[in-house]
Amino acid sequence: MTHTIAFNFEDGVTRFIDANPGEVVADAAYRQGINIPLDCRDGACGTCKCFAESGKYSLGDEYIDDALTAEEAEQGFVLTCQMRAESNCVVRVPASSEVCRTQKASFDGAISDVQVLSDSAIRLSISGEGLGSLAFLPGQYVNLQVPGSSESRAYSFSSLQQDGQVSFLIRYVPGGLMSTYLKDHAAAGQGISLTGPLGSFYLRDIKRPLLMLAGGTGLAPFLAMLEKIAEAGSDYPVHLIYGVSHDFDLVEMDKLETLAQRIPNFSYSACVAAAESQHPKKGFVTQHIEPAHLNEGEVDIYLCGPPPMVEAVSLNLRERGTQPANFYFEKFAASA
Ligand code: FES
Repeated sequence: MTHTIAFNFEDGVTRFIDANPGEVVADAAYRQGINIPLDCRDGACGTCKCFAESGKYSLGDEYIDDALTAEEAEQGFVLTCQMRAESNCVVRVPASSEVCRTQKASFDGAISDVQVLSDSAIRLSISGEGLGSLAFLPGQYVNLQVPGSSESRAYSFSSLQQDGQVSFLIRYVPGGLMSTYLKDHAAAGQGISLTGPLGSFYLRDIKRPLLMLAGGTGLAPFLAMLEKIAEAGSDYPVHLIYGVSHDFDLVEMDKLETLAQRIPNFSYSACVAAAESQHPKKGFVTQHIEPAHLNEGEVDIYLCGPPPMVEAVSLNLRERGTQPANFYFEKFAASA
């Protein structure tokens, strides 16, 4: 059985390859047109050193300490000229995709559904035969070309790829190029192209409790991550706090409820910032983070929201004296 290796390059591009049983990961990459930096190929120079974000693998015992220390190996660093995958793996490569002679992939699809969910959010679904081979890490994004223009916009997947279909949760920006297209012109069957996947905001192996913080349509990557967790399970609790500005901004609540029923140790809450809100929980996400969610710092925090939210949460954690084990975040802002 082959294993899938996702290489996440320094410039955010991600490419997926298959590694045969027992095949050295760097060889598998070369076989599929990705030139991971290599020199000795013998475990002596350290040129091929990368970081394994997740997965099981063996490194053998033929490399030397100068190339990879025991401490580095313990932390998750790997020599790809020695690494043999024993499960699917995610490997962070400290070089750009260009240096490794690869690039973003492009896919052609067609709109299968557009739903205006609220005054501020649109759900877009795209499908097509070519998308059956589209692989990405839950949490990542692609560039969608705005039909009828040469411009593209970046959006996080809000679903996994299933039978060649993917979905997005798109913030409606009045006058925005994609927003205007989706609201006024888009129809099922129209062609649309995707380029990617991209980004270093993706779900890592779950090794401790997770706290997910979503601002507005920053909910999108969490819907994809939670679908993955629903499939794979989690030994640790996962809590999501979803904050929006106005009551009408709250969307996809039925999806969250379905996910809560599918994932035994998943819980969530929502809050609305506007003073006139009728929602039972008011205020910002920082006001709804409870000490138990932070688990005395033994927690991985994922945050996706506008830049001020990222700043506010960072400040709030500092004020609480909490240093989470990991803090992954994605800032998004509307294109001009
Ligand atoms: Fe020299 Fe891998 S290429 S250690």
